[in-house]
Amino acid sequence: MSSNPIVNEISKGDPDESLDKTLRREVMQRKNFAIISHPDAGKTTLTEKLLLYGGAIQQAGAVKARGEQRKVTSDWMELEKQRGISITSTVLQFEYRKSKINLLDTPGHQDFSEDTYRTLAAADNAVMLEDAAKGLEPQTRKLFEVCRMRKIPIFTFINKMDRPGQEPLSLLDQIEAELGLSTWAVNWPIGSGDEFRGIIERESRKVILFTRGERGKQSIERQISIDDPELENLVESELLEKALEELDLIEEAGSPMDVDLIHSGDLTPVFFGSAMTNFGVRPFLDAFLRMAQGPTARNSNSGPISPLKSDFSGFVFKLQANMDPKHRDRVAFIRICSGRFMKDMTVRHARTGKQIRLSRPQKIFGQDRSVVDDAYPGDVIGLNNPGMFAIGDTLYTGQRIEYQGIPCFSPELFSWLRNPNPSAFKNFRKGVNELREEGAIQILYDTDQSKRDPILAAVGQLQMEVVQHRLEHEYGVATIIEPMGFQLARWITGGWPELEKVGRIFNCKTVQDPWMRPVLLFKNDWNLNQLKEEHPDLDMTKVAPVVSGIEPINL
Ligand code: G4P
Repeated sequence: MSSNPIVNEISKGDPDESLDKTLRREVMQRKNFAIISHPDAGKTTLTEKLLLYGGAIQQAGAVKARGEQRKVTSDWMELEKQRGISITSTVLQFEYRKSKINLLDTPGHQDFSEDTYRTLAAADNAVMLEDAAKGLEPQTRKLFEVCRMRKIPIFTFINKMDRPGQEPLSLLDQIEAELGLSTWAVNWPIGSGDEFRGIIERESRKVILFTRGERGKQSIERQISIDDPELENLVESELLEKALEELDLIEEAGSPMDVDLIHSGDLTPVFFGSAMTNFGVRPFLDAFLRMAQGPTARNSNSGPISPLKSDFSGFVFKLQANMDPKHRDRVAFIRICSGRFMKDMTVRHARTGKQIRLSRPQKIFGQDRSVVDDAYPGDVIGLNNPGMFAIGDTLYTGQRIEYQGIPCFSPELFSWLRNPNPSAFKNFRKGVNELREEGAIQILYDTDQSKRDPILAAVGQLQMEVVQHRLEHEYGVATIIEPMGFQLARWITGGWPELEKVGRIFNCKTVQDPWMRPVLLFKNDWNLNQLKEEHPDLDMTKVAPVVSGIEPINL
């Protein structure tokens, strides 16, 4: 264990007796995280800078083409839309100060937030990125809720300090008041916008002076002690005084630092910086490595499984079909939870009980793929998936275990999906079933068996368009989408018997999910509240409960 008080606690759960030294070392070295933010807050820019510091890319811009390459950017976006939800949503691994960091990248568009939810299920930490001028924004709030459900540590990076922004104290207040998270500023800004002069590191009381880093390069940092008389020649005294007063205030009135509270997701360390100018990224990475949690124990049907358990285990959190149009493949992304993964190893698939040899595991970095020989807890590998894997599936060696599944999220848009050409039914069925398995969209069915058209249930409109586009281009079926006008879905916790007890219900439509469970669709909150008032005992949930061990019905 490190002598640093801020150390990683990796051994929750029940570690295996026969601890393998390599496994322990590899687990200790790993940290993984996903970034949650509202579009435009600077996620792509921050990702680029982090990779640059990690030496994983030679030049910023490798993640997303910019500036003069605008055309390329828009082509990419078009392709992303055509190919499905997440061509750029992969895993970026880089090394930094002897740590191996896995950045689980998530799609930027809010219509694909379900994909982000699933990625968060595989992450041990989250970085909440805010635009200093805008503060908390809707998409960030939504994704924060998922982090809260999983109680994962959240690190807040307040970006764009080089532009006029809100008062730093109000930004912290907003996080505390709206999200109920305590904050602990790791550094504090001196000025903002044109008057941004740098940050004061809270523990070392050093000032890091703001310089506009050149695009694509690591910035050269200039540090100076807060007591150095030279500082008054570099920073206006009123700006410095204001920053110091605010620091004193949070020192007295703010929450104390507590690593356990960070790890339980109750306290967020806050950093100020400017990703675009490369400012504050290095201090962020260093502090993140000290404070973030390593691969954690995961809950399974046999209790928490320690990453140090020597038996291999992992779960599928994402499926992606046709990532490479030349190969028409399907890739299953597996988060490794325990033990060592080795190429060609044979594992068991918990849902079906079948044995599988994992012969072509891949590491996927942006668009590049390479075969992996071994991987450890906290890592993500891609497996070619000939239709065997579904989201939430567990793979293991040794004693049978099954990880808790990944919940689906409450859809907000519902449309009939019509296939006007009966001769294309076979392909239509194949496409709908495969896209559902992949998690591209949720599918519901009418309770009347004679109405065979499936209902597309989505979180965002683009999801519908992508499904329609993919059905046409990958399965050769032109479809018609007819919006149904509903906005809310509720699953009945007690199933059909509970629903039958309440008798006839008005102002909503009863449908079923692929596990034949009843789901009520409402046009608005008013109709939902009316039902709640009339039947206060009817237990409903907006998150579809996870089903394990039962095969869903297909179209
Ligand atoms: P996203 O992935 O979260 O959607 O955001 P992205 O990184 O694409 O950034 C959105 C815009 O904000 C970009 O401007 C980017 O340059 C800018 N930005 C990111 N970080 C900072 C920062 O620290 N300071 C300032 N001033 N701007 C920042 P754009 O005009 O859309 O693109 P570009 O022409 O700059 O590439």
